[in-house]
Amino acid sequence: MDSAQKKLLVTNALPYANDSIHIGHLVGYIQADIWVRFQKLQGTDCLYVCASDAHGTPIMLRAEKIGVDPEELANEYTQEHHRDFKDFLINFDNYYTTHSKENQELIEEIFSKLVKNNRIEKQIIEQAFDDKEQMFLPDRYVRGQCPECGAEDQYGDSCEDCGSTYKPTDLINPISVISGNKPSQKKSEHYFLKLKDSESMLKEWIQTIDIHPSVKSKLNEWFTSGLKNWDISRDDPYFGFKIPEEDDKYFYVWLDAPMGYFASLKNLCEQKENSFDYQSYVDPNNENQLIHFIGKDIIYFHALFWPAVLDGAELKKPDGIYVNGFLTVNGKKMSKSRGTMIKARTYLDHLNPEYLRYYYAYKLNSGMDDFDLDTNDFLHRVNSDLVGKCVNIASRCAKFINDDFNNQLSGKIADQELLSQFQQSSSSIATMYKHREFGRAMRTIMSLADQANRYLDKEKPWNLAKDVTKKEQVQEICTMGLNLFRILMIYLKPVVPAIAKQAEAFLDLDNQHWSDINQSLIDHQINNYEPLLTRLQKENIDAMIDASK
Ligand code: 2FM
Ligand code: ZN
Repeated sequence: MDSAQKKLLVTNALPYANDSIHIGHLVGYIQADIWVRFQKLQGTDCLYVCASDAHGTPIMLRAEKIGVDPEELANEYTQEHHRDFKDFLINFDNYYTTHSKENQELIEEIFSKLVKNNRIEKQIIEQAFDDKEQMFLPDRYVRGQCPECGAEDQYGDSCEDCGSTYKPTDLINPISVISGNKPSQKKSEHYFLKLKDSESMLKEWIQTIDIHPSVKSKLNEWFTSGLKNWDISRDDPYFGFKIPEEDDKYFYVWLDAPMGYFASLKNLCEQKENSFDYQSYVDPNNENQLIHFIGKDIIYFHALFWPAVLDGAELKKPDGIYVNGFLTVNGKKMSKSRGTMIKARTYLDHLNPEYLRYYYAYKLNSGMDDFDLDTNDFLHRVNSDLVGKCVNIASRCAKFINDDFNNQLSGKIADQELLSQFQQSSSSIATMYKHREFGRAMRTIMSLADQANRYLDKEKPWNLAKDVTKKEQVQEICTMGLNLFRILMIYLKPVVPAIAKQAEAFLDLDNQHWSDINQSLIDHQINNYEPLLTRLQKENIDAMIDASK
């Protein structure tokens, strides 16, 4: 699928507004941000929207526990997340909330279309009920002994010990997580999306979209084991949108959450007084592309439920679903006791966000394998690549141009062949970015940086500078070095946008685009060099880990 010429709407999974985000969450947001920045750098019309996922039982209970309204709690976390994302240089075109009037209107409209198109059925089901709290219990709020292996204290949907899945009613000695009492069973009528009816549509649709083969094979496994109709309603008490014409029923959070993508876009269109055409992004006959970045735990929701809802509501289905794996830290699952459950803000209190953006880029590819943040490797990689290889080129050359040539670059490119080689790498690096092979892109860029350093090592302007007759040569060599540095900075711009911006200020250049790679910088006045990045210090990593315990 070639998305280069079309307008893109890119989304990222919406974070729940009931807790702080951590560096594991950031994998997907950074990945998508790099991809979107690359698209924009190339001149593609691309919108990146997100929002907080405000509804559901956990947020309702958390708000109750601390004695605030769920709206207020959601609002606080929405603002906190938005600040964290901004400080990690994640550049959303809009950040909104699913608890919004736009989302409510959309969900009501879509629900009535689903009903009209015969995609919904009602069914009476029996569920665990907490008599003390007077509420139905989601599967995860019932715990007990696994019916298969007998392991104690397992969730109501699956056993962490033996991996078997079951219903909360199957648990031995079940208790409500909320009151500690034994739940009773109670009947209630629910709305179901008839997912089974969408099976052939979904099977055909996954053949047409941009999705990694490993995700496709996961979907095929689910098709083989059979799709089940999906319960999209929840009983009172619940924090969410009420189902029209029902007194005590709400839409399940997972129905309105992805709708929040469109609600965020709608809100953006309203803010910009309709300079974007909302319909052109959601109309199924339009060429614009809808791309979702998600984690591997929510494939079912995005690649089965969501397209079935969109299809039933006569809206555009996704054109690409890009799935990332989970993060481990130092080879293990993140954990509070090891200090590796690092909140976004704790990271920011100790380290530069661009270190992490670079490291994630270096480790990411288009697949959904988990990847490890090894803190020693992180330290070494950032210092060796960003500081030692890239920024070093600028500091090695700037000194002479600033001090001996009054900031003036020479009128000549000393090694046209080397410059052309740097420029000609642009199409392969672009292809890597486009296909989310960021690790390969980073390695390719770093091998160019190695070449630039070898060029300087060979020409040794610091030796030539001692000889007054070689002055012109020194200016040409350093001009050449800064030309190579400029191109490297454009290549890295999607990953380290703030460093790239500082580099533009140092080189006295306007906002650089991908097409500017083909320019050369001669007869040009630069500015005084200020250090672009300091080395990552082990003490700061240690302090961050201590602060996370
Ligand atoms: O799994 C989660 O964290 C959900 N809050 C993701 C929602 S994505 C979208 F559908 F809203
Ligand atoms: Zn078990």
